[in-house]
Amino acid sequence: MVDVILGLQWGDEGKGKIVDFFAKDYDLVARFQGGPNAGHTLYVGAEAKKVVLHQIPSGVFHQGTINLIGNGVVLDPVTLRRECDTVASFGVDVRKNLFISERTHLILPTHRALDKAAELSKGDSKIGSTLKGIGPAYMDKTGRNGLRVGDLLGKNFTTSYIRLRLKHQRLLDNYNFNEDITAWEEEFFEAIDFLRSLNIVNGEYFLNDNISKGKKVLAEGAQGSMLDIDFGTFPFVTSSNTISAGVCSGLGVAPQKIREVIGVSKAYCTRVGSGPFPTELHDQTGEELRKLGNEFGATTGRPRRCGWMDLVALQYACMINGVTSVVMTKADVLDTFEELSICTGYRIDGADTNQVPFQMTRSPIEPVYETLQGWHTDSSGCKSEADLPAPMRSYVSFINERLGAPVTYISNGPGRDQLVTL
Ligand code: GDP
Ligand code: IMO
Ligand code: MG
Repeated sequence: MVDVILGLQWGDEGKGKIVDFFAKDYDLVARFQGGPNAGHTLYVGAEAKKVVLHQIPSGVFHQGTINLIGNGVVLDPVTLRRECDTVASFGVDVRKNLFISERTHLILPTHRALDKAAELSKGDSKIGSTLKGIGPAYMDKTGRNGLRVGDLLGKNFTTSYIRLRLKHQRLLDNYNFNEDITAWEEEFFEAIDFLRSLNIVNGEYFLNDNISKGKKVLAEGAQGSMLDIDFGTFPFVTSSNTISAGVCSGLGVAPQKIREVIGVSKAYCTRVGSGPFPTELHDQTGEELRKLGNEFGATTGRPRRCGWMDLVALQYACMINGVTSVVMTKADVLDTFEELSICTGYRIDGADTNQVPFQMTRSPIEPVYETLQGWHTDSSGCKSEADLPAPMRSYVSFINERLGAPVTYISNGPGRDQLVTL
């Protein structure tokens, strides 16, 4: 049996915190897509120390929970090694509780260089990539050139690496990109040696064997549904299937094995990087959201673009994911607002619709808003549904009526215990 936790917006919904919270109820937590473009924030231990995970699943701090990096992930050995050091400093033994699929594709230093070169060449129309090499690594996967973790255990890894590097060099020459990446390569090869010493497994058998034994598996998504390569705001997306369908191909589990799909959504919207964002606020309210929500990227530190809740996009995300319940995070960020707007429709070329169009950039989208009363209360200390201010409960009811999947938890602060069950 597999449950899924994934993002319903443009990433950074608070997936890390929610996976960390639920991980204690699971035997195995598995990442199924994405790579070090992800930044999942957790507060760990009695002192609640902040940790941002990029490659390792967010179940890693729970004793007795095994973590798997699935075949659908793209893995940067350098980031992984650094992250293993971080989690080891909390007493976690990655040799016991971290497993990596041999089918996982590797991010090479030249993938990072290619990401940078491609973005530079795009000028104003750049994607706003995290520059971690994600797009080029997935291109080599679908182009059938990529190197995989299992290749590290064979004899010809260095030869294959040199062959692929040469191919990349020709592409970089085309871009006139001539930054020296010698230092990146040195740390890459050191990290490769470290990676060889970890538990490299036949991921799909490893996972299905665990499922057959009755173990409970939690699949952890990275990015968000609106960044999905097929269903997001293409081309301003990431390069993987971030939606629940990605669990099957990214881990090797059959669809019948998937039980709950828990979608995480902020109580408002943010986006980092370029691309359409219908409810984006360019005014003082947007600034307030950024300040109160501390909306700066966990991976790149970039300021996140902020705006009101978009129910058109959220409903779409629930549909394509088969969401069974929603966790609404960062409700406390709205504590001081007098009124709250929620987008319930899009007006495009004078016509109203509640569907996400093929291209959000073809014609300007004017959000149609309904206004709800704010709660004007510090909600961060609420422990139970009864503690929640009445306008917050109305805000949730309004969303529930339109989504078709109920909000079952409200997160009212970054802390591990700041989660109210509805
Ligand atoms: P992820 O990528 O989906 O895991 O999310 P990030 O970690 O990139 O960004 C979420 C940010 O919001 C982190 O700084 C979290 O510590 C923080 N956060 C998560 N839930 C809440 C919440 O309910 N309230 C507040 N104020 N912050 C939260
Ligand atoms: P988590 O898992 C928010 C965005 C980038 C860029 C686009 C493509 O922390 O929610 P890429 O590096 O994948 O080529 O970038 O996707 N992006 C994210 N935005 N959260 C993320 O991950 C993201 N991962 C990628 O900003 O717009
Ligand atoms: Mg993040």
